[in-house]
Amino acid sequence: MMTDGRQPVLYVIACGGRPAGELPNLVTSLQADGWTVCVVTTPSGRKFTDSARLTELTGYPVRDDYKRPEEPDVLPPADAMAVVPATFNTINKWAGGISDTLALGLLNEAIGLGLPLVVVPWPNVALARHPAFPVSVERLTSCGVSVLLDPERLPQPASGAPGAASFPWEELKSELRRVYEVCMGRIAPV
Ligand SMILES: Cc1cc2nc3c(=O)[nH]c(=O)nc-3n(C[C@H](O)[C@H](O)[C@H](O)COP(=O)(O)O)c2cc1C
Repeated sequence: MMTDGRQPVLYVIACGGRPAGELPNLVTSLQADGWTVCVVTTPSGRKFTDSARLTELTGYPVRDDYKRPEEPDVLPPADAMAVVPATFNTINKWAGGISDTLALGLLNEAIGLGLPLVVVPWPNVALARHPAFPVSVERLTSCGVSVLLDPERLPQPASGAPGAASFPWEELKSELRRVYEVCMGRIAPV
């Protein structure tokens, strides 16, 4: 997977849910797929991730807040983004155009830039029944965001670490490949 003779840059954006703890495996696998990976977390997502390990794996700092105006950008520009996992909170704020975390600011801009975007919403089954949730998912889908959501696989409330076991890691990787190839004009949209 090359862009102008270089590897495409993927921002993996992690929100505050247990699957964020599995990012090291995902990063390694995405790198093997040909992506240069940078990790951004929400402030809550930071609690679920090992930033030192992810920095070591990616070679880039893990960012979770906007930079100061005088600071340089430390990450290369993104060619695509994946939100893994996307919390109920971030899905609803993203659909509403709220940018009060760096992650949301990047995602809101990415819609305007037309970047390939794949999101795995991961509310528990109770949160998924809140009326705001399907409206937000529909709104993001209508903006061209690829939403991977199977209600049968969502965790029960307070289900702990095993609740993350049904997370669709393989589907995420193949969907990322697909949306990127569509964006590059190498395959036709479905
Ligand atoms: C142990 C724990 C697990 C959580 N798991 C989830 C989850 O799977 N999905 C979700 O939508 N929120 C989950 N939350 C709640 C979010 O972390 C919380 O709503 C937070 O404000 C999300 O912020 P963010 O969207 O900026 O990451 C969890 C919270 C805790 C403490």
